[in-house]
Amino acid sequence: MHFDQPMFKNDELKDKVIVVTGGGSGLGESMTRYFLQLGAKVVITSRKLEKLDKSAEKLRAETGGEVLTVACDVRDYEAVENLMAESLNTFGKVDALVNNAAGNFISPTERLSANAFDTIIDIVLKGSKNCTLAFGKHWIKQKQSVATVLNIVTTYAWTGSGYVVPSAAAKAGVLAMTRSLAVEWAKYGIRMNAIAPGPFPTKGAWDRLLPGDLKEKFDIKKKVPLKRVGEHQELANLAAYLLSDYSAYINGEVITIDGGEWLQGAGEFNMLEQVPKELWDMLEAMIRSQKEKS
Ligand code: HXC
Ligand code: NAP
Repeated sequence: MHFDQPMFKNDELKDKVIVVTGGGSGLGESMTRYFLQLGAKVVITSRKLEKLDKSAEKLRAETGGEVLTVACDVRDYEAVENLMAESLNTFGKVDALVNNAAGNFISPTERLSANAFDTIIDIVLKGSKNCTLAFGKHWIKQKQSVATVLNIVTTYAWTGSGYVVPSAAAKAGVLAMTRSLAVEWAKYGIRMNAIAPGPFPTKGAWDRLLPGDLKEKFDIKKKVPLKRVGEHQELANLAAYLLSDYSAYINGEVITIDGGEWLQGAGEFNMLEQVPKELWDMLEAMIRSQKEKS
Protein backbone atom coordinates (compact mmCIF):
# COMPACT_ATOMS: atom_id res chain seq x y z
CA MET A 1 0.00 0.00 0.00
CA HIS A 2 1.43 3.34 -1.06
CA PHE A 3 -1.27 5.72 0.17
CA ASP A 4 1.23 7.68 2.27
CA GLN A 5 3.51 8.25 -0.73
CA PRO A 6 3.48 11.14 -3.22
CA MET A 7 1.24 10.21 -6.16
CA PHE A 8 2.74 12.49 -8.82
CA LYS A 9 6.50 12.17 -9.24
CA ASN A 10 7.39 15.02 -11.60
CA ASP A 11 6.72 18.75 -11.96
CA GLU A 12 2.97 18.34 -12.47
CA LEU A 13 2.27 21.77 -10.92
CA LYS A 14 5.30 23.51 -12.45
CA ASP A 15 4.97 27.30 -12.59
CA LYS A 16 1.47 27.29 -11.12
CA VAL A 17 0.99 29.93 -8.43
CA ILE A 18 -1.26 28.66 -5.65
CA VAL A 19 -2.65 30.61 -2.69
CA VAL A 20 -3.37 28.43 0.35
CA THR A 21 -5.32 30.02 3.20
CA GLY A 22 -4.38 28.54 6.55
CA GLY A 23 -1.26 27.25 4.78
CA GLY A 24 1.05 27.53 7.79
CA SER A 25 -0.32 24.61 9.79
CA GLY A 26 -2.04 21.25 9.64
CA LEU A 27 -3.48 20.12 6.33
CA GLY A 28 -2.75 23.50 4.70
CA GLU A 29 0.96 23.06 5.39
CA SER A 30 0.94 19.45 4.15
CA MET A 31 -0.77 20.46 0.89
CA THR A 32 1.66 23.35 0.47
CA ARG A 33 4.67 21.05 0.94
CA TYR A 34 3.47 18.75 -1.83
CA PHE A 35 2.54 21.61 -4.21
CA LEU A 36 6.11 22.93 -3.77
CA GLN A 37 7.57 19.48 -4.43
CA LEU A 38 5.59 19.45 -7.69
CA GLY A 39 7.10 22.75 -8.84
CA ALA A 40 4.38 25.22 -7.79
CA LYS A 41 5.02 28.60 -6.17
CA VAL A 42 2.85 28.96 -3.10
CA VAL A 43 1.50 31.89 -1.11
CA ILE A 44 0.58 30.85 2.42
CA THR A 45 -1.63 33.10 4.47
CA SER A 46 -3.33 33.24 7.88
CA ARG A 47 -3.56 35.67 10.79
CA LYS A 48 -0.18 34.91 12.39
CA LEU A 49 2.82 36.04 10.33
CA GLU A 50 5.40 34.61 12.71
CA LYS A 51 3.84 31.15 12.39
CA LEU A 52 3.69 31.49 8.59
CA ASP A 53 7.35 32.57 8.37
CA LYS A 54 8.46 29.62 10.48
CA SER A 55 6.49 27.23 8.32
CA ALA A 56 7.80 28.84 5.10
CA GLU A 57 11.40 28.54 6.27
CA LYS A 58 10.91 24.84 6.98
CA LEU A 59 9.15 24.23 3.65
CA ARG A 60 11.83 26.07 1.64
CA ALA A 61 14.55 23.99 3.31
CA GLU A 62 12.66 20.74 2.67
CA THR A 63 11.63 21.39 -0.94
CA GLY A 64 13.77 24.21 -2.34
CA GLY A 65 10.51 25.80 -3.50
CA GLU A 66 9.37 29.42 -3.52
CA VAL A 67 6.98 30.41 -0.72
CA LEU A 68 5.56 33.85 0.02
CA THR A 69 3.96 34.57 3.40
CA VAL A 70 1.25 37.20 3.77
CA ALA A 71 -0.65 37.90 6.99
CA CYS A 72 -4.36 38.09 6.24
CA ASP A 73 -7.51 37.62 8.25
CA VAL A 74 -9.84 36.15 5.64
CA ARG A 75 -12.82 37.80 7.37
CA ASP A 76 -11.54 41.19 6.20
CA TYR A 77 -12.16 41.82 2.46
CA GLU A 78 -9.54 44.60 2.29
CA ALA A 79 -6.94 42.27 3.79
CA VAL A 80 -7.86 39.68 1.15
CA GLU A 81 -7.42 42.28 -1.61
CA ASN A 82 -4.01 43.06 -0.13
CA LEU A 83 -3.19 39.32 -0.13
CA MET A 84 -4.01 39.23 -3.82
CA ALA A 85 -1.96 42.37 -4.58
CA GLU A 86 1.09 40.96 -2.74
CA SER A 87 0.75 37.61 -4.51
CA LEU A 88 0.57 39.33 -7.91
CA ASN A 89 3.47 41.67 -7.08
CA THR A 90 5.70 38.73 -6.22
CA PHE A 91 4.67 36.08 -8.73
CA GLY A 92 2.88 38.07 -11.46
CA LYS A 93 -0.19 35.81 -11.51
CA VAL A 94 -2.29 33.43 -9.42
CA ASP A 95 -3.57 30.16 -10.89
CA ALA A 96 -5.34 28.59 -7.96
CA LEU A 97 -6.88 29.34 -4.60
CA VAL A 98 -7.29 26.78 -1.82
CA ASN A 99 -9.88 27.90 0.75
CA ASN A 100 -8.55 25.87 3.67
CA ALA A 101 -8.58 28.33 6.61
CA ALA A 102 -11.18 27.45 9.23
CA GLY A 103 -12.25 27.95 12.81
CA ASN A 104 -14.17 25.45 14.91
CA PHE A 105 -14.77 24.21 18.45
CA ILE A 106 -17.24 21.79 20.01
CA SER A 107 -20.08 23.17 22.11
CA PRO A 108 -23.76 22.57 22.77
CA THR A 109 -25.33 25.22 20.53
CA GLU A 110 -27.39 26.81 23.31
CA ARG A 111 -24.15 27.62 25.16
CA LEU A 112 -22.81 29.71 22.26
CA SER A 113 -22.94 33.49 22.30
CA ALA A 114 -24.12 35.17 19.12
CA ASN A 115 -20.55 36.33 18.61
CA ALA A 116 -19.14 32.80 18.99
CA PHE A 117 -21.53 31.55 16.28
CA ASP A 118 -20.66 34.51 14.03
CA THR A 119 -16.93 33.96 14.51
CA ILE A 120 -17.05 30.51 12.92
CA ILE A 121 -19.45 31.56 10.14
CA ASP A 122 -17.21 34.55 9.42
CA ILE A 123 -13.96 32.58 9.17
CA VAL A 124 -15.37 29.67 7.17
CA LEU A 125 -18.18 31.03 4.98
CA LYS A 126 -17.41 34.75 4.79
CA GLY A 127 -13.67 34.02 4.56
CA SER A 128 -14.13 31.58 1.66
CA LYS A 129 -16.54 34.02 0.00
CA ASN A 130 -14.08 36.94 0.40
CA CYS A 131 -11.20 35.02 -1.18
CA THR A 132 -13.30 33.47 -3.94
CA LEU A 133 -14.86 36.83 -4.84
CA ALA A 134 -11.59 38.79 -4.84
CA PHE A 135 -9.65 36.23 -6.90
CA GLY A 136 -12.64 35.44 -9.13
CA LYS A 137 -13.15 39.12 -10.02
CA HIS A 138 -9.44 39.38 -10.81
CA TRP A 139 -9.40 36.32 -13.06
CA ILE A 140 -12.51 37.45 -14.92
CA LYS A 141 -11.18 41.00 -15.39
CA GLN A 142 -7.80 39.70 -16.59
CA LYS A 143 -9.52 37.23 -18.92
CA GLN A 144 -7.22 34.56 -17.49
CA SER A 145 -8.08 31.42 -19.42
CA VAL A 146 -7.63 28.85 -16.63
CA ALA A 147 -8.04 29.14 -12.86
CA THR A 148 -9.08 26.78 -10.08
CA VAL A 149 -10.65 27.10 -6.65
CA LEU A 150 -10.47 24.20 -4.22
CA ASN A 151 -12.58 24.42 -1.06
CA ILE A 152 -11.83 22.24 1.95
CA VAL A 153 -15.16 21.36 3.55
CA THR A 154 -16.22 18.42 5.76
CA THR A 155 -18.59 15.46 5.41
CA TYR A 156 -21.03 17.09 7.83
CA ALA A 157 -21.52 19.84 5.23
CA TRP A 158 -24.34 17.61 3.93
CA THR A 159 -25.24 15.46 6.95
CA GLY A 160 -25.09 18.30 9.46
CA SER A 161 -23.72 17.57 12.94
CA GLY A 162 -24.65 18.49 16.46
CA TYR A 163 -22.06 20.23 18.66
CA VAL A 164 -20.34 21.90 15.67
CA VAL A 165 -23.41 23.64 14.27
CA PRO A 166 -21.78 26.93 13.16
CA SER A 167 -19.10 24.96 11.33
CA ALA A 168 -21.69 22.64 9.73
CA ALA A 169 -23.81 25.58 8.57
CA ALA A 170 -20.78 27.44 7.21
CA LYS A 171 -19.30 24.42 5.40
CA ALA A 172 -22.72 23.69 3.85
CA GLY A 173 -22.68 27.26 2.53
CA VAL A 174 -19.21 26.78 1.07
CA LEU A 175 -20.37 23.58 -0.64
CA ALA A 176 -23.38 25.41 -2.13
CA MET A 177 -21.04 28.16 -3.34
CA THR A 178 -18.75 25.53 -4.92
CA ARG A 179 -21.56 23.96 -6.91
CA SER A 180 -23.17 27.29 -7.85
CA LEU A 181 -20.02 28.97 -9.13
CA ALA A 182 -18.83 25.79 -10.86
CA VAL A 183 -21.63 26.43 -13.32
CA GLU A 184 -21.71 30.24 -13.32
CA TRP A 185 -17.96 30.78 -13.71
CA ALA A 186 -17.14 27.84 -15.99
CA LYS A 187 -17.50 30.20 -18.95
CA TYR A 188 -14.52 32.17 -17.58
CA GLY A 189 -12.38 29.02 -17.34
CA ILE A 190 -12.68 28.89 -13.55
CA ARG A 191 -13.13 25.41 -12.08
CA MET A 192 -14.54 25.01 -8.56
CA ASN A 193 -14.21 21.79 -6.57
CA ALA A 194 -14.18 20.70 -2.94
CA ILE A 195 -12.61 18.04 -0.77
CA ALA A 196 -14.49 16.68 2.24
CA PRO A 197 -11.94 15.10 4.56
CA GLY A 198 -12.81 12.70 7.34
CA PRO A 199 -10.53 12.53 10.37
CA PHE A 200 -6.96 13.63 9.65
CA PRO A 201 -4.95 14.27 12.83
CA THR A 202 -3.81 17.91 13.10
CA LYS A 203 -3.09 19.93 16.21
CA GLY A 204 -5.51 22.71 15.25
CA ALA A 205 -8.53 20.47 14.74
CA TRP A 206 -7.92 17.73 17.26
CA ASP A 207 -7.09 19.89 20.27
CA ARG A 208 -10.36 21.77 19.71
CA LEU A 209 -12.60 18.88 18.71
CA LEU A 210 -11.22 16.16 20.99
CA PRO A 211 -9.76 18.07 23.96
CA GLY A 212 -8.34 16.39 27.07
CA ASP A 213 -9.03 12.67 27.34
CA LEU A 214 -11.80 12.71 24.68
CA LYS A 215 -9.15 11.45 22.24
CA GLU A 216 -8.82 8.25 24.27
CA LYS A 217 -12.51 8.05 25.15
CA PHE A 218 -13.75 8.20 21.54
CA ASP A 219 -11.45 6.08 19.44
CA ILE A 220 -12.03 7.88 16.14
CA LYS A 221 -10.59 4.94 14.16
CA LYS A 222 -13.59 2.82 15.21
CA LYS A 223 -15.91 5.23 13.35
CA VAL A 224 -14.09 4.51 10.09
CA PRO A 225 -14.81 1.28 8.16
CA LEU A 226 -11.15 1.18 7.12
CA LYS A 227 -10.20 1.41 10.82
CA ARG A 228 -7.64 4.15 10.44
CA VAL A 229 -7.35 7.93 10.25
CA GLY A 230 -6.15 9.74 7.13
CA GLU A 231 -2.52 10.34 6.18
CA HIS A 232 -1.78 13.95 5.22
CA GLN A 233 -0.05 12.81 2.04
CA GLU A 234 -3.17 11.12 0.70
CA LEU A 235 -5.14 14.34 1.09
CA ALA A 236 -2.27 16.30 -0.49
CA ASN A 237 -2.30 13.82 -3.41
CA LEU A 238 -5.99 14.46 -4.02
CA ALA A 239 -5.57 18.25 -3.73
CA ALA A 240 -2.64 18.23 -6.18
CA TYR A 241 -4.70 16.20 -8.66
CA LEU A 242 -7.64 18.60 -8.39
CA LEU A 243 -5.36 21.59 -9.05
CA SER A 244 -3.50 19.88 -11.87
CA ASP A 245 -4.44 19.91 -15.54
CA TYR A 246 -5.20 16.17 -15.26
CA SER A 247 -8.50 17.03 -13.55
CA ALA A 248 -9.50 19.62 -16.16
CA TYR A 249 -12.96 18.01 -16.69
CA ILE A 250 -13.80 17.80 -12.97
CA ASN A 251 -15.91 20.80 -12.02
CA GLY A 252 -18.45 21.30 -9.21
CA GLU A 253 -17.48 18.07 -7.50
CA VAL A 254 -16.95 17.36 -3.82
CA ILE A 255 -14.66 14.42 -3.23
CA THR A 256 -14.94 12.65 0.10
CA ILE A 257 -11.76 11.23 1.59
CA ASP A 258 -12.82 9.63 4.87
CA GLY A 259 -12.36 5.85 4.66
CA GLY A 260 -16.15 5.50 4.47
CA GLU A 261 -16.73 7.21 7.83
CA TRP A 262 -19.87 9.21 7.07
CA LEU A 263 -21.58 6.32 5.33
CA GLN A 264 -20.91 4.07 8.31
CA GLY A 265 -22.80 6.56 10.45
CA ALA A 266 -25.59 6.95 7.89
CA GLY A 267 -26.42 3.38 6.81
CA GLU A 268 -29.52 2.20 8.70
CA PHE A 269 -28.23 -1.29 9.52
CA ASN A 270 -24.49 -0.66 9.65
CA MET A 271 -24.60 -1.35 13.41
CA LEU A 272 -24.94 -5.03 12.48
CA GLU A 273 -21.20 -4.92 11.88
CA GLN A 274 -21.03 -5.64 15.61
CA VAL A 275 -22.81 -8.99 15.24
CA PRO A 276 -20.20 -11.77 15.50
CA LYS A 277 -19.95 -14.18 12.56
CA GLU A 278 -21.05 -17.19 14.60
CA LEU A 279 -24.34 -15.46 15.53
CA TRP A 280 -25.48 -15.15 11.91
CA ASP A 281 -26.55 -18.86 11.69
CA MET A 282 -28.83 -18.34 14.68
CA LEU A 283 -30.19 -15.01 13.38
CA GLU A 284 -30.89 -16.50 9.97
CA ALA A 285 -32.74 -19.44 11.55
CA MET A 286 -34.83 -16.99 13.62
CA ILE A 287 -35.75 -14.91 10.56
CA ARG A 288 -36.61 -18.00 8.48
CA SER A 289 -38.77 -19.39 11.26
CA GLN A 290 -40.76 -16.11 11.28
CA LYS A 291 -41.48 -16.62 7.57
CA GLU A 292 -42.72 -20.17 8.15
CA LYS A 293 -45.09 -18.94 10.93
CA SER A 294 -46.63 -16.16 8.81
C1 HXC B 1 -17.76 28.51 23.36
C2 HXC B 1 -16.18 29.97 22.49
C3 HXC B 1 -15.19 28.96 22.55
C4 HXC B 1 -15.58 27.67 23.06
C5 HXC B 1 -14.29 30.76 21.77
N1 HXC B 1 -15.56 31.06 22.01
N2 HXC B 1 -14.02 29.49 22.09
N3 HXC B 1 -17.45 29.74 22.88
N4 HXC B 1 -16.86 27.50 23.43
N5 HXC B 1 -14.69 26.66 23.12
C6 HXC B 1 -16.22 32.34 21.79
C7 HXC B 1 -15.55 33.49 22.52
O1 HXC B 1 -15.94 33.55 23.89
C8 HXC B 1 -16.05 34.68 21.72
O2 HXC B 1 -17.39 35.00 22.02
C9 HXC B 1 -16.08 34.13 20.30
O3 HXC B 1 -16.13 32.71 20.41
C10 HXC B 1 -14.85 34.52 19.51
O4 HXC B 1 -13.71 34.06 20.21
P1 HXC B 1 -12.26 34.70 20.01
O5 HXC B 1 -11.31 33.89 20.78
O6 HXC B 1 -12.33 36.17 20.24
O7 HXC B 1 -12.09 34.51 18.41
P2 HXC B 1 -10.80 34.38 17.54
O8 HXC B 1 -9.61 34.91 18.24
O9 HXC B 1 -11.13 34.92 16.21
O10 HXC B 1 -10.59 32.77 17.46
C11 HXC B 1 -11.36 31.97 16.61
C12 HXC B 1 -11.57 30.58 17.17
C13 HXC B 1 -10.27 29.84 17.52
C14 HXC B 1 -12.37 29.81 16.14
C15 HXC B 1 -12.42 30.73 18.45
O11 HXC B 1 -10.54 28.53 17.98
C16 HXC B 1 -9.34 29.76 16.35
O12 HXC B 1 -8.56 30.68 16.13
N6 HXC B 1 -9.38 28.67 15.54
C17 HXC B 1 -8.58 28.52 14.31
C18 HXC B 1 -8.12 27.12 14.08
C19 HXC B 1 -9.20 26.07 14.15
O13 HXC B 1 -10.28 26.27 14.76
N7 HXC B 1 -8.93 24.93 13.54
C20 HXC B 1 -9.86 23.81 13.55
C21 HXC B 1 -10.42 23.57 12.21
S1 HXC B 1 -11.19 21.98 12.24
P3 HXC B 1 -17.78 36.20 23.06
O14 HXC B 1 -19.26 36.25 23.00
O15 HXC B 1 -17.25 35.79 24.39
O16 HXC B 1 -17.13 37.44 22.51
C22 HXC B 1 -12.55 21.98 11.28
C23 HXC B 1 -13.33 20.71 10.92
C24 HXC B 1 -12.84 19.44 11.49
O17 HXC B 1 -12.93 22.97 10.83
C25 HXC B 1 -13.76 18.25 11.20
C26 HXC B 1 -13.17 16.97 11.81
C27 HXC B 1 -13.77 15.71 11.30
P1 NAP C 1 -5.72 24.02 11.44
O1 NAP C 1 -4.27 23.64 11.39
O2 NAP C 1 -6.24 24.61 12.70
O3 NAP C 1 -6.01 24.97 10.22
C1 NAP C 1 -6.77 26.10 10.26
C2 NAP C 1 -5.98 27.24 9.67
O4 NAP C 1 -6.84 28.35 9.46
C3 NAP C 1 -4.83 27.72 10.57
O5 NAP C 1 -3.64 27.75 9.82
C4 NAP C 1 -5.23 29.13 10.98
O6 NAP C 1 -4.08 29.97 11.09
C5 NAP C 1 -6.13 29.53 9.82
N1 NAP C 1 -7.11 30.55 10.19
C6 NAP C 1 -8.02 30.50 11.19
N2 NAP C 1 -8.73 31.63 11.24
C7 NAP C 1 -8.29 32.40 10.21
C8 NAP C 1 -8.64 33.68 9.74
N3 NAP C 1 -9.61 34.40 10.31
N4 NAP C 1 -7.99 34.18 8.66
C9 NAP C 1 -7.02 33.45 8.06
N5 NAP C 1 -6.63 32.24 8.47
C10 NAP C 1 -7.26 31.72 9.54
O7 NAP C 1 -6.65 22.74 11.15
P2 NAP C 1 -6.67 21.64 10.00
O8 NAP C 1 -7.13 20.40 10.62
O9 NAP C 1 -5.40 21.63 9.23
O10 NAP C 1 -7.86 22.16 9.06
C11 NAP C 1 -7.64 22.56 7.72
C12 NAP C 1 -8.94 22.45 6.95
O11 NAP C 1 -9.38 21.09 6.90
C13 NAP C 1 -10.11 23.23 7.56
O12 NAP C 1 -10.89 23.80 6.53
C14 NAP C 1 -10.91 22.17 8.27
O13 NAP C 1 -12.26 22.53 8.40
C15 NAP C 1 -10.73 21.01 7.30
N6 NAP C 1 -10.96 19.70 7.89
C16 NAP C 1 -10.07 19.15 8.74
C17 NAP C 1 -10.30 17.89 9.25
C18 NAP C 1 -9.32 17.20 10.16
O14 NAP C 1 -9.59 16.08 10.61
N7 NAP C 1 -8.17 17.78 10.44
C19 NAP C 1 -11.47 17.20 8.89
C20 NAP C 1 -12.38 17.81 8.04
C21 NAP C 1 -12.12 19.06 7.53
P3 NAP C 1 -3.97 31.25 12.08
O15 NAP C 1 -4.38 30.77 13.43
O16 NAP C 1 -2.54 31.66 11.95
O17 NAP C 1 -4.89 32.28 11.51
